[in-house]
Amino acid sequence: MTSGIGTGRGNGKTLLLGEHAVVYGMPAIAAGISLGATARAEPSERGQIRVGELRASVGDGSDLGAALERACEALGAGPHQLEVDVTLPLGSGLGGSAAIGVAVTRALLAARGEAETRERVLAGAGAWEQVFHGNASGVDAAAAYAGGCIWFTKADGIEPIFVARQLDLVICLAGPPASTKQMVESVSRLGERRPDLLAKSLSGIESLVKNARLCIEAGDLSGLGQLMNYNQMLLSGLFLSTSEIERACGIARDAGALGAKLTGAGGGGAVIALCDGNSEPIEAALKAAGFAAFSSQIAPTRLGVEP
Ligand code: PMV
Repeated sequence: MTSGIGTGRGNGKTLLLGEHAVVYGMPAIAAGISLGATARAEPSERGQIRVGELRASVGDGSDLGAALERACEALGAGPHQLEVDVTLPLGSGLGGSAAIGVAVTRALLAARGEAETRERVLAGAGAWEQVFHGNASGVDAAAAYAGGCIWFTKADGIEPIFVARQLDLVICLAGPPASTKQMVESVSRLGERRPDLLAKSLSGIESLVKNARLCIEAGDLSGLGQLMNYNQMLLSGLFLSTSEIERACGIARDAGALGAKLTGAGGGGAVIALCDGNSEPIEAALKAAGFAAFSSQIAPTRLGVEP
């Protein structure tokens, strides 16, 4: 196998519905966003990585060094030097670590002259994600790999969804980011104390996700928005929301959003608002309230092209 310089990219993502439940085997709907990560890999004496301003080496005790080691091991790759640049806010529920894991894996495969397959990319990115997420469902890595709008379950992986009408989102950062690993663990502890409550919430979320898919396929944006609002209520019931998340959701809805919810792990981080051709005033209202916000579009599936 040849060894040279390789480059790769991974998308960030939003979870339209189904976060946390997906860890317990339920489906989730994720959509890639254009912000993400790019990586450049080159063989070197020692495994080293730079992500933005952060630097780490294999064996230095850091998570970043450990993640690089795991990804290289999963791919059967020797030590490499990685340079990674990220355009996503990290730790905010937008799948930053998976975007980096996919970019790093693609760069390593390219540096080894190895053709990219879904299995290989997800093997490398999954090993990377395990360091940061613990019991990760794999949805972040799948969305970072696939882009577009996907249906994801732990058992069956990625299934592209037909998007009948463009989905306009405003994404806003509602407070300091939380650790995905800790938020996933907090749901698991709640499940130990109140298994009945968790089971009911998960089955409620599952129904919402199934209905949301029908809305996306039919272009029913107001139905989708309502389901997002209900999903937010169930996530709040699992103690995953915060006052800042609720405030951001309220501002977005008052400004005309069809629905708004946290996206990703919760406990802080990102909120998504579904817009109906009115993303500008919604983004402006969030910014006026002091939130960082930006718009992102999920393109409709083109007719005649496999979703
Ligand atoms: O990494 P985040 O914050 O986008 O959250 C990932 C989604 C979870 O369902 C909370 C965890 C998982 O592994 O699916």
